[in-house]
Amino acid sequence: MKSSQLLALIHLLVFLVLRVNTQAVLKRAQSIQGQKLPKKQWQSAWLLKAVTCIDLTTLSGDDTPSNVHRLCMKAIQPVRHDLLRKMDMHDKGISTAAVCVYPSRVADAVRSLKAANSSIPVASVATGFPAGQTPLESRLQEVRSAVNDGATEIDIVINRMLALTGQWEAMFNEIRLFREACGDAHMKTILAVGELETLSNVYKASMVAMMAGSDFIKTSTGKEAVNATYPVAIVMLRAIRDYFLCTGHKVGFKPAGGIRTAQESLVWLTLIKEELGSEWLHPHLFRLGASSLLADIERQIYHEVTGQYAALHELPMA
Ligand SMILES: *[C@@H]1O[C@H](CO)[C@@H](O)[C@H](O)[C@H]1NC(C)=O
Ligand SMILES: *[C@@H]1O[C@H](CO)[C@@H](O)[C@H](O)[C@H]1NC(C)=O
Repeated sequence: MKSSQLLALIHLLVFLVLRVNTQAVLKRAQSIQGQKLPKKQWQSAWLLKAVTCIDLTTLSGDDTPSNVHRLCMKAIQPVRHDLLRKMDMHDKGISTAAVCVYPSRVADAVRSLKAANSSIPVASVATGFPAGQTPLESRLQEVRSAVNDGATEIDIVINRMLALTGQWEAMFNEIRLFREACGDAHMKTILAVGELETLSNVYKASMVAMMAGSDFIKTSTGKEAVNATYPVAIVMLRAIRDYFLCTGHKVGFKPAGGIRTAQESLVWLTLIKEELGSEWLHPHLFRLGASSLLADIERQIYHEVTGQYAALHELPMA
């Protein structure tokens, strides 16, 4: 893209940013939390939908091939077979959307999934996750090496310094380079919204990330002091909608960081449905980044199906 075109786009962007009305966004965020969730008899189906949208994640300093292997097995069979059978969903191939690991653990995850004949994609965080404060060349190299090891989805982090100092064109150019380094892998761009200071910055960063070729925009790394909040999510979802109205291109959304309860996952699904429509409620346009969420969803499904709450030992690896 020529820089004159880019400039025109940024002008359009600024015009669009004026539509971000903080009061309205906060009000909307409040209403979504007080809103009625799906009816009782539909909740299990909604919870299963949430399961199929989870990027089941482990991002710890003590990750090893064996805990990555357990994560992969859980991704393949995220809900106990007998519970799925009771819901008549046991032959629907229910799995999580992806597993998400550090670059050094990609090969382990690929190996475990391959051995189990699973086609679940492996996502890798990259580009100096979580801070993004390493030299550009090593951030690019990290993307290439994760792709080389078999990751088909890359969760990059943006350079917050560029956002906070208003260097949007430089951010655009960096994300373009990550896009190229990803090759055919899907790229999810983490905005680390907890560090972007204003909703306008969130909107601009969303637009720049989408213009630079992101397949998804993602709220947080889970390592900032503030994770995915509803007001920020609403701004990102409206950016996705505006971008779609301008270009006809659908970009996905991934909230992540601190999402732990089945109840919260239902609020997220409701929010996406109302802001973007049911079309976005599929793993190719919606992901929930989470590690402990799945255990609570499985517990909730157990409760719905059997009428009682599960003891922890009844849900292995929860
Ligand atoms: C994977 O598929 C191969 C060939 O179809 C089969 O021989 C093997 O037993 C399968 N492995 C598992 C773990 O299902
Ligand atoms: C943000 O998310 C991380 C990862 O889930 C969690 O450990 C942390 O407690 C969360 N922080 C807040 C303020 O909710």
